[in-house]
Amino acid sequence: MELPSTAEVLYARSMSHASNQGNTLRFPPGFLWGTATSTTQIEGHINNEWTGFVARDGRTCHPACDSYHRYGEDIQWMGELGVNAYRMGIEWSRLQSAAYGPLDQAELARYADQLNRLNAAGIVPMIVLHHFSNPPWINAGGGWVNPSTVPAFVDYVARLVLALRDRVRIWNTFNEPDTYACCSYFIGQFPPLKKARLLTYRKVIRHMAQAHQQVCRVIRETGSDLGPVEAGFSKNWTYFQAYRKRSPWDALAAKFAHAQFNEFVLRSFIAEGRDFATFLGVNYYGRVRFKNMQPLVPAFGFSCEELSSLGVACDDMLERHPTGLEFALKRMHQQSGLPIYLTEHGCASGDETFREQDLRENLAALHRAISSGVDVRGFFYWSLLDNFEWQFGYSKKFGLIGVDFTDDRLPRKMKPLGHVYRGVCSENAI
Ligand code: FCB
Repeated sequence: MELPSTAEVLYARSMSHASNQGNTLRFPPGFLWGTATSTTQIEGHINNEWTGFVARDGRTCHPACDSYHRYGEDIQWMGELGVNAYRMGIEWSRLQSAAYGPLDQAELARYADQLNRLNAAGIVPMIVLHHFSNPPWINAGGGWVNPSTVPAFVDYVARLVLALRDRVRIWNTFNEPDTYACCSYFIGQFPPLKKARLLTYRKVIRHMAQAHQQVCRVIRETGSDLGPVEAGFSKNWTYFQAYRKRSPWDALAAKFAHAQFNEFVLRSFIAEGRDFATFLGVNYYGRVRFKNMQPLVPAFGFSCEELSSLGVACDDMLERHPTGLEFALKRMHQQSGLPIYLTEHGCASGDETFREQDLRENLAALHRAISSGVDVRGFFYWSLLDNFEWQFGYSKKFGLIGVDFTDDRLPRKMKPLGHVYRGVCSENAI
């Protein structure tokens, strides 16, 4: 089958439509406003490397939000928010029980039903193919350290894309390969909990980048009944800096982190994806600054109060750095030459006023980037629901919709930020 040219794939759309009216920032017509989730974090009833993993709050990813059974209700909540897009995962371990095996038809039908309901509700699905988890038989073979994972993944994706080409137009190959490989093989916080294996980290990134290139090709060749097919991966962009500019060790730590976790990953994926990717996904949360070689963020054990006394404004995970978003988008747009989706941004806090301020500042930075010519086509808030935040368990509250994990019925409730986001979606402005 002939591949569509880049020109055919790109929307004929001018970004000059982003405008300022008084204090209101208008986004381009057709802009996608969505939310994002991942399978392990919301579905429950899952059999991958996270199944037996006990997080710092003593809990596991089961049953998370039980979205495996409650996706219909989740879509109703999306209707309440008024979003027109949803970035969601499909769990590889549900669909194949051995390399090169057939897809499990019952599991496929469940995802197909979920996609039918999204499409019927006018919510464009963006499907993430890999988000920090693998089937047990892939992990048993060494996961992404083993080069034979690459063709096995390509085989799986080829089957899946063919099966869902009538329901999906936008495919996201890998979510944050940097975070996955770093947490799994460098800082030992994700299974298999390995530390300081820099060469393994780099090997995993290289294998994922190769797989990215090959699956983008498969996706482009298979196409979609719904229109021009799109394929890209999501790069997590974190600024790494020294807290005190003149501290040579902290400057070195920041330089190392930037080189390994930003530059190396972006270079590998852009080089490998050059021929077939149609977009770049960017996940942006903020900044990590080093003081005495320690990352000054709550995720590494500092309290928000302690950090704020050092002038470091954080949510419950990372330092906020909204102005950085504009520059990150410009830089990645320039380097990749691709249109961008902001595939994740969010803020974890019990303080909804703080979260609203964070959203406003980051959307203003996004708007500045678009106004200056960066082709950004959508924004996906992390996350639709409070959920299982990997090594931290249920303690980090990122949801627009709150979930009460102390109640077995897992009741959902719109949070104040959900109402703010509903306004953004309905006005296409903030
Ligand atoms: C991103 C991950 C996502 C979630 C958010 C808070 O790095 O992609 O799964 O953990 O951070």
